[in-house]
Amino acid sequence: MLEIRDLEVGYGDIQALFGVSFMVEEGSIMAVLGPNGAGKSTLLKTISGLLRPKAGEILFEGKPLTGLHPYDIAELGIAHVPEGRRVFPSLTVEENLIVGSVAKRARQHRAASMAEVYELFPRLKERRTQGAGSLSGGEQQMLAIGRAMMLRPRLLILDEPSLGLAPILVENVFEKIREIRQKGITMLLVEQNAAVCLATTQEGCVLEQGRIVVRGTREQLLDSRLVQEAYLGV
Ligand SMILES: Nc1ncnc2c1ncn2[C@@H]1O[C@H](COP(=O)(O)OP(=O)(O)OP(=O)(O)O)[C@@H](O)[C@H]1O
Ligand SMILES: [Mg+2]
Repeated sequence: MLEIRDLEVGYGDIQALFGVSFMVEEGSIMAVLGPNGAGKSTLLKTISGLLRPKAGEILFEGKPLTGLHPYDIAELGIAHVPEGRRVFPSLTVEENLIVGSVAKRARQHRAASMAEVYELFPRLKERRTQGAGSLSGGEQQMLAIGRAMMLRPRLLILDEPSLGLAPILVENVFEKIREIRQKGITMLLVEQNAAVCLATTQEGCVLEQGRIVVRGTREQLLDSRLVQEAYLGV
């Protein structure tokens, strides 16, 4: 469904990604692990059109995304949940969800999408008239995911959804991620929490200093010395 080929991305003179290549199969969850500064967010921002690659290609269902604007990429059904759950704090929960459905592909399905999001996250329904800024960290993460779901995405890309959450909430977020997968939505999931992440995904890769250093199925990653030592504390 998504194919990344020899991607090179930088900020001015600083190069952040070097020859990154991988594929995400339809219906699967692909994990991208890696330490701070590895280039994980850069990779996701390039896929959703916020950054332009210097070289390489990104194909979504065989069509190149390179050169498209973020809103065109959203229209194709790629939704991005940014790092640090950026909800609009002065809008209510429901208004935040509406913002997620402004794309043409999503607009006419708004009511049905909202019902689906509220079914997935009952807590958001209870809080629908509350200002998003007054939600807890875990609730804001749910809202950020719910807002992305309002696009009716085919591919959902998530940037460290567990960041800053207590362990019980992390488990909760991953439970929702598994429910979303059951709806047939493909995901690209950036995480530093390897143990929780690999319990949920089928395949993954490790990005270090802008390069993929390990790539494989969940079993291959769990067997990898590097993953065991650096990410699982074995
Ligand atoms: N706007 C920017 N201008 C210049 N350099 C940047 C910019 N954003 C990121 N970088 C650099 O690019 C590299 C990769 O950053 P990126 O945010 O993609 O890492 P990350 O893997 O998401 O890290 P983290 O786990 O801390 O979120 C880092 O060296 C970072 O300093
Ligand atoms: Mg990041």
